[in-house]
Amino acid sequence: MDINTIRTSALEKFRGACRVCPVCNGYVCAGEVPGMGGLGTGAAFRHNVQALAECRLNLRTVHSVKNPDLSCRILGLDLALPVIGAAIGGIALNMNGALSEAAYTGAIVSGCRKAGTIGMTGDGPVPVVFDSGMAAISHEQGWGIPIVKPRETDKIVELAKKAAAAGAPAFGMDIDAAALVNMTNAGQPVGPKTIQELEYIKNHTTIPFIVKGIMTPDDAESCWQAGVDAIVVSNHGGRALDHTPGTAEVLPYIAEAVKGKMTVLVDGGIRSGADVLKMLALGADAVLLGRPLAIAAVGGGADGVEFVLNKYKAELNAAMTLTGTAGLSGVPVEILW
Ligand SMILES: Cc1cc2nc3c(=O)[nH]c(=O)nc-3n(C[C@H](O)[C@H](O)[C@H](O)COP(=O)(O)O)c2cc1C
Repeated sequence: MDINTIRTSALEKFRGACRVCPVCNGYVCAGEVPGMGGLGTGAAFRHNVQALAECRLNLRTVHSVKNPDLSCRILGLDLALPVIGAAIGGIALNMNGALSEAAYTGAIVSGCRKAGTIGMTGDGPVPVVFDSGMAAISHEQGWGIPIVKPRETDKIVELAKKAAAAGAPAFGMDIDAAALVNMTNAGQPVGPKTIQELEYIKNHTTIPFIVKGIMTPDDAESCWQAGVDAIVVSNHGGRALDHTPGTAEVLPYIAEAVKGKMTVLVDGGIRSGADVLKMLALGADAVLLGRPLAIAAVGGGADGVEFVLNKYKAELNAAMTLTGTAGLSGVPVEILW
């Protein structure tokens, strides 16, 4: 397996749904939702990639960091690298049916496990999306994290209980899907949640609760007040609201508000191990990877996902060595230029 084989195979299987660009930056696929792009003008997706490109690491090589430690502990889980597979659902609709929903989530969950990390699974208007994710997680003895839509609160509690019964170590809700019309049109209303509703979900479930899609310090504080265990700083890969800032722009403000009080994850536009290190220096505890793993899963299945994660691992190792970063707890902001 090599990266060119994965990419060539993915390009063929996507049949136009993703052009597998040299840099996955949201230009060619702008507006392609459904599809793999960002919503509307595609600006929010592009801002994610741009914000990371504008953030620079500087070289530092007179030090003793020869074997950096890439491992981390997130929500009580020991991971070999601080990169988690992002939830991606609706494969038939978004990827031209390049894979079945089951084959896709299976590849993500199993590939992440093989690489020493964990994958998330998605939710959608048709039951096959959530159910395929749960089947993939059960197949890996519970080693996966389902992310449910911001449905009616009791429905979320019901799905979280299913996740706990399958052995999942945590569950989440992508609160930024609060205006997803295809859910509401399918008779499954979604919407924003109050602090009290978040608290209700937390108090009626037993496994750690992640809220994905936080872009302001105020919302992060509200999650903390509600007892939420982790947030994902995310704009849904630019698929929720056009023209939001990039996640690397807002992350430092959010980390300042809640870092150390709860786990802070981030996603959006991360395209290399160096990008992972930048996000950690900006205040994240770990990151999620979306489209790059989608290309890997379509092009190479679970082995492709494992291969791409190992590539990120090697790149992160090099970036840590070349910035004098020995480990991942409290990556200093000073490594940024
Ligand atoms: C086709 C597609 C489907 C997605 N489906 C979901 C989903 O079901 N649940 C969810 O929480 N996020 C979903 N996301 C968002 C991702 O989890 C993640 O936030 C985003 O892809 C990160 O940006 P990146 O792709 O630039 O890495 C989806 C993204 C894409 C591209």
